[in-house]
Amino acid sequence: MDATLSRYAQETAPRYTSYPPATQFHDGIGETQYRRWLEDVPRNGTLSLYIHIPFCKQLCWYCGCHTTVANKDERIGHYVEALLTEIRRVGETAARHARVTHMHFGGGTPNILSPDVFRTIVAEIQRNFRFDANAEKAVELDPRYLSDAHIAAFADCGVTRASLGVQDVSPDVQALINRHQPLEIVQSAVERLREAGIGAINLDLMYGLPGQTVKHVRRSAEAAVALRPDRLTVFGYAHVPWFKKNQRAIDETRLPDAGERMAQAAAAAESLQGAGYTAIGIDHFARADDPLARAKRSGRLRRNFQGYTLDSATTLIGFGASSIGCFAGGYVQNDPHLGRYNSAVQNGRLPIVRGVATSAEDKLRSAVIERLMCDFAVDVLAVQKNFDFDGQVLADGLLRLKPLQTDGLVEVRDGIVNVTAQGQPFVRNIAACFDAYSQACETRHSSVV
Ligand SMILES: C[S@@+](CC[C@H](N)C(=O)[O-])C[C@H]1O[C@@H](n2cnc3c(N)ncnc32)[C@H](O)[C@@H]1O
Ligand code: SF4
Repeated sequence: MDATLSRYAQETAPRYTSYPPATQFHDGIGETQYRRWLEDVPRNGTLSLYIHIPFCKQLCWYCGCHTTVANKDERIGHYVEALLTEIRRVGETAARHARVTHMHFGGGTPNILSPDVFRTIVAEIQRNFRFDANAEKAVELDPRYLSDAHIAAFADCGVTRASLGVQDVSPDVQALINRHQPLEIVQSAVERLREAGIGAINLDLMYGLPGQTVKHVRRSAEAAVALRPDRLTVFGYAHVPWFKKNQRAIDETRLPDAGERMAQAAAAAESLQGAGYTAIGIDHFARADDPLARAKRSGRLRRNFQGYTLDSATTLIGFGASSIGCFAGGYVQNDPHLGRYNSAVQNGRLPIVRGVATSAEDKLRSAVIERLMCDFAVDVLAVQKNFDFDGQVLADGLLRLKPLQTDGLVEVRDGIVNVTAQGQPFVRNIAACFDAYSQACETRHSSVV
């Protein structure tokens, strides 16, 4: 990789799953503000619900998620009680009148819950919220611990989509990340889910892991394609050991450098596109006939905390420790600490610890950044017309783009920004030019490629 691109690859930037990014959340936003935003949810609005299950059987060393090892069933039991209470408490607010179009169980590992506990949580949600007949119900799953009884419970609860963690199929890489997972386990999980009628399958792959080479990445992509998933994600390993203690077990001497990471990302993209998948944004792939690929072609792609999505709900409510909610007025986040989350809920509170109110300027910048991340292009002036915010705020963004333009990452004409093929892996650097906070938070993010 040439020196200029290498410099961009090593810069840090948010993943822009929200704007302002979560690093801007502060403790000035709490329960009182959250309750106001919940009461302001329009009666005819649409809702997306996220439920976080922060437990795993064991920790993968690379993991960057909010999760912990559940060594006692009792611990999960206390958490589930708090979760049910939180669901009921939010269900008492005006938000209950809106229509749920999307429900997502993430983690951690939602299938660490017993099938009956999963049914109980879904039943509580359905008692408290109104579901659209076509609502998508998605669950993140660890294929190593997926029983037939789990699958039956998911099918009974109307789950339509399952995302399975694969990462890398080679035993030598799996040993370096503490995730032993023979491919047959994934194959069996996919087959059993399909037999039960859960037909929409996503597989997660990773590059940039210790010991990984282009050959490993290609082998994993080919093995994943053979399972005919509807969608795949290919995440670059985000190494943030100062923030995630479990990552300190990773042998840093075995981590691929920036050039190798770029080659691995390109190899994954080539294998998946060669097999007929459409590239979506920075890290998603979908079958050409998948609604996500169609949305990309028609400019209707969205980006939220789950990555690229069709979810166009106007409000996101997060349940469980660390979950984030998104409202017309701003973002809120629940306490990520399990003990504090449980006791806040048991003490009659909604466990918000931070958030941020979004200004008119934030909303405008957010729209520009979302289009860049989704379409690799944005008509800045056209976006500005849709916002009740008059200002030259975007002019500074265009100015900050100049060096990236000189380096061939973007082309800019009459306020229309087009990311070049060379610039696409660096779209986070490009989006950062429209981010008013980007210089303030550099060291807290991972490198962009
Ligand atoms: C909640 S897990 C998926 C479900 C289940 N826990 C599993 O691992 O099979 C979400 C996904 O995030 C990705 N991921 C986790 N830590 C990451 C990191 N540090 N950098 C990039 N991607 C990561 C992995 O691809 C993982 O499959
Ligand atoms: S990758 Fe999945 S299974 Fe592994 S520790 Fe993270 S959440 Fe748990």
